[in-house]
Amino acid sequence: MASLDSINLIKGWPSTSLLPTHHLSRAAQTALADTSVAFPGLLYGPDEGYAPLRETLGNWLTSWYEPEQSIGKERITITGGASQNLACLLQVFTDPAYTRDILFAAPAYMLAFRVFEDNGFSGKMKAVPEDDDGMDMHALRRALEESEKHSPENKTPMFKPPRPYAKYYRHVIYCVPTFSNPSSRTLPLDRRIELVKLAREFDALVITDDVYDFLQWSADSNTSTSITKALLPRLVDIDRFLDGGAERPGADGFGNTTSSGSFSKIAGPGLRVGWSEGSPKFAYGVSQTGSSCSGGAPSQLTSTYMNILVKDGTMSDHIFKVLQPAYAARYKTLASAIKDYLYPLGASLPQPNQRVVGGYFLWLTLPDTVKAVDFAKRCQDEAQVIVAPGSIFEVPGDDSVKFEHSIRLTFSWIDEHLMVEAVKRISTVLERCLKGEGPTEAPKQNEINENPY
Ligand SMILES: Cc1ncc(COP(=O)(O)O)c(C=O)c1O
Repeated sequence: MASLDSINLIKGWPSTSLLPTHHLSRAAQTALADTSVAFPGLLYGPDEGYAPLRETLGNWLTSWYEPEQSIGKERITITGGASQNLACLLQVFTDPAYTRDILFAAPAYMLAFRVFEDNGFSGKMKAVPEDDDGMDMHALRRALEESEKHSPENKTPMFKPPRPYAKYYRHVIYCVPTFSNPSSRTLPLDRRIELVKLAREFDALVITDDVYDFLQWSADSNTSTSITKALLPRLVDIDRFLDGGAERPGADGFGNTTSSGSFSKIAGPGLRVGWSEGSPKFAYGVSQTGSSCSGGAPSQLTSTYMNILVKDGTMSDHIFKVLQPAYAARYKTLASAIKDYLYPLGASLPQPNQRVVGGYFLWLTLPDTVKAVDFAKRCQDEAQVIVAPGSIFEVPGDDSVKFEHSIRLTFSWIDEHLMVEAVKRISTVLERCLKGEGPTEAPKQNEINENPY
């Protein structure tokens, strides 16, 4: 068989053609040419992060999410991105003996697992299945109740000292409520409200990675207008106002949700700038992570660049005029190729009636007779298309929720013109699997992936 060029549908990275390099170049020169910006940018940052960016982000997020009251900088801490923030949150707000479990909406973002393991939660991670509308709230309640019944009763933290700026939560719930990685599903409003109520009832912290929220567009192929307001409130917006929020009578002021935002998917992951939002008491706790107190807030210099670009409207323009149309076009080409070539073979996508879609991924369910792990291998060997099998998004140590017949396809990384070709190749492999034909001889690999995701 002739060797084909490899097509990578596994990498969840932004397209290099969409990186705002010229805007960043201008912002970097502006910041470094002005000592009132460059000096604080190059020195140790305050624990909470670069104050002008915290304020600018508060205004920007207010205009995007339109919460009942504006978002002030006291709710925001600058982070080194969602991954680094997750580690900080666990360092400050959990104790691996006292915190009973980590509950994931499953399928789950697989690279988060190790962050939890690094913080002592190996063996305590559990899957809560999603249905077509995202995390199943009945299953979540059952999991929380079971955990309260059966986990060892450690009444106090064992590994961490009491701290005036933090608390230790009994449970952690981790999810990506909007355009999830990997399932691409979006949790509807009623479930968001229920999730906040459950978190309050069980003393859980809900950590949401809201890193795809800005990347949304109409599912209708004939509509191309940009969408300049968020589809839904975040969990953190609901927790802020529901029944008096974190400061309601009897509550401790920390709240039960926190939102991780990031410039990784909309500007570039190499910048390593993100933000954490929560109640003012919670946001201050995040800033008190030991590494920030020693080294200063993360990403101090790049924060000065992002402050310029968000404040002068460049980021919004880039999102609405460049990213949304470009990713929408990729999404639509990939989704319609799937409908043309893979639906007739019995494959399907979730949430078919969603009016607004987005993110970086599509979650494809294969016919029941096709095992995704074998299928992914055959796609790579026989068709040189690299896809992610559902098994890598299963929660380690919990076999109760499996994804044996699903694969994740990323549409952000490869150019639009390769989408149809990729799906046609996948369909050829699927046809062979359905006919019971064994693997064909593997052609030569043209691409070596050092970091596959
Ligand atoms: C759900 C989710 N969280 C976090 C990240 C990583 O974000 P960051 O680059 O801000 O650490 C990703 C990237 O793929 C992601 O999909």
